[in-house]
Amino acid sequence: MRMYKILRKEKLNDVVELMEIHAPNVSRKCEPGQFIILRVGEDGERIPLTIADFDREKETITIIYQIVGYSTEQLAKLNQGDELTDFVGPLGEPTQLHQSKHVVGVAGGVGSAPLFPQLRALANMGVECDVIIGGREAQYVLLAEEFKKFCKNVYITTDDGSLGQKGFVTQVLADLIEKGETIDEVIAIGPVPMMKAVVGVTKPHNIKTSVSLNPIMIDGTGMCGCCRVSVDGKIKFACVDGPDFDGLLVDFDELIARQKMFKSEEAHICNLTGV
Ligand code: FES
Repeated sequence: MRMYKILRKEKLNDVVELMEIHAPNVSRKCEPGQFIILRVGEDGERIPLTIADFDREKETITIIYQIVGYSTEQLAKLNQGDELTDFVGPLGEPTQLHQSKHVVGVAGGVGSAPLFPQLRALANMGVECDVIIGGREAQYVLLAEEFKKFCKNVYITTDDGSLGQKGFVTQVLADLIEKGETIDEVIAIGPVPMMKAVVGVTKPHNIKTSVSLNPIMIDGTGMCGCCRVSVDGKIKFACVDGPDFDGLLVDFDELIARQKMFKSEEAHICNLTGV
């Protein structure tokens, strides 16, 4: 049976870690925007994670995950040299990269991870990219130095003002629009309320806005129906139709309500297992 070795593990802050995994079959084919599903051990739960980076020569995939419950706790217990049981992918549709003049990426928390390869690919196409990265406090602002390598402007916001501007990413975005910047597209990836708030800013100006949705997933193949979202009044499955969608058409309220439903399940598992 193929196993997937962890070649590198890094702690990015007290709840977020990075792993670089040897996964030749995934690294050969993956594109920005796609995700993998991994399992820790034979009985492990399936964990979907968007690909943060890939290296076709080294045959590796980089994942960045937040320790939020039982399964990610199990993942975090592994170290460099350990192996994952399953590492399936690439799954989902690659991001549609549009040639344009100016794109602004907006990332909240671990949303920096999936945003990173998308903006880098656009920058490589000659698109001028800016990014706004938000976090609760300085340590939760991720990948700022990496984005500086290809973004013209890197704006940072923190809730407590410990780094960058005090406040939310949406304020910076609103200020850019107010200043008259021409923005062809906004790509927002982060917590659902943040993506909803970004759309609240862009929609009145009819700015094309792409979001990456991360509802609960089980099979990742469009069979279980667990990851369904409503987009433009139609049912879509984030695992096969996404994870990227037109943010102006997503029913965020329904998505938030569904996420709340599963939160109580996760809390139940944590109580049972003492995590
Ligand atoms: Fe089952 Fe998408 S995870 S349909």
